[in-house]
Amino acid sequence: MSGKYEKLQQQFLCCYPVNKMAWSSVAFPLSWEDQQELIAATCGHPLNRRFPVRRSYLEAFLKQLMHLLRDQEDVHDDIYSSLCGPMGEKASTGSVTPSAYAYKHYLIEPGAHITLRESRSFVAEGTTGLCTWEAALALGDYLLQHRDLVAGRNIVELGAGAGLLGVLLKLPALQLKTGQVLLTDGSEPCVQLMRENIALNFRDGPREAMPQAEQLNWDAVSEFPWHAHPEPDLLLAADVIYDDSQFDALLSALDFLYTRRGKGLETLLASTVRNVDTLHKFMTQLGDNNYKVTPCANVSACASHFCRDHTAAVQIISIRR
Ligand SMILES: C[S@@+](CC[C@H](N)C(=O)[O-])C[C@H]1O[C@@H](n2cnc3c(N)ncnc32)[C@H](O)[C@@H]1O
Repeated sequence: MSGKYEKLQQQFLCCYPVNKMAWSSVAFPLSWEDQQELIAATCGHPLNRRFPVRRSYLEAFLKQLMHLLRDQEDVHDDIYSSLCGPMGEKASTGSVTPSAYAYKHYLIEPGAHITLRESRSFVAEGTTGLCTWEAALALGDYLLQHRDLVAGRNIVELGAGAGLLGVLLKLPALQLKTGQVLLTDGSEPCVQLMRENIALNFRDGPREAMPQAEQLNWDAVSEFPWHAHPEPDLLLAADVIYDDSQFDALLSALDFLYTRRGKGLETLLASTVRNVDTLHKFMTQLGDNNYKVTPCANVSACASHFCRDHTAAVQIISIRR
């Protein structure tokens, strides 16, 4: 990470909202060299050059930067040339259209970053899972703060979406020493995307060294080839409690897995608190099904390895039976 613009760089690369960025950490007015350094740390970063963030985000970032430089006589050429980059991906018709996907880069600590291809839309191809949600970032933070929870454990994630947590858990630079990590989702496009994202972050290596991704719909949990995977010790699920029509399917999937594995199984469930009633309804159903629910530490109090917008509270609970 570049020292002077480290925070801005981390925020830019993961498309953190432009109006919430750490602009106060930048000492305006900026000299010609400082402008060049700031652009090199953000738009010109090698990760962004190779796997660009979405074009509309880059434009919003540069617009804000030019606004903040408005009283200066000299605006560096690199700012203009960053604005004049390619406008989108060429469609097969030859016309230039914005791509439905772009990249985000999560700089976690020096030497450890994750690159994910994500959808530009929160809902696409019939799923909400093609981009990373706040609860996954919060759960990632929580696991980095409590490494003992994952060390030596075989982990299965339900509703894993774009695959951030699985990549995080197996990232060699973090040395989390997890057992096998299996990412699952009911949506076929999510599974394809997770596999792509795994390939982006891991070179070929032994199966245990990288996460696996498989399609698993909670309705069909008993048909999944569990024999081909180690018994899970830990289940993870982030931002899966928003649609109460899915509660029965999720509870029956949990019931199946806890019945197989017994008391040794723990689930960490992270939920963004959007609708208190929906969350409360799921908690009640967990109680009715004899699960023991323990709230985990307040995640917003954790030091954040990810750029998180702390306006939405994220609740993390541990579920045992
Ligand atoms: C809001 S997204 C969260 C994705 C990811 N966990 C995150 O936090 O970034 C919810 C995910 O749950 C998956 N999902 C919803 N219902 C499901 C079901 N019945 N079976 C399996 N996956 C399901 C969706 O496909 C989607 O990927």
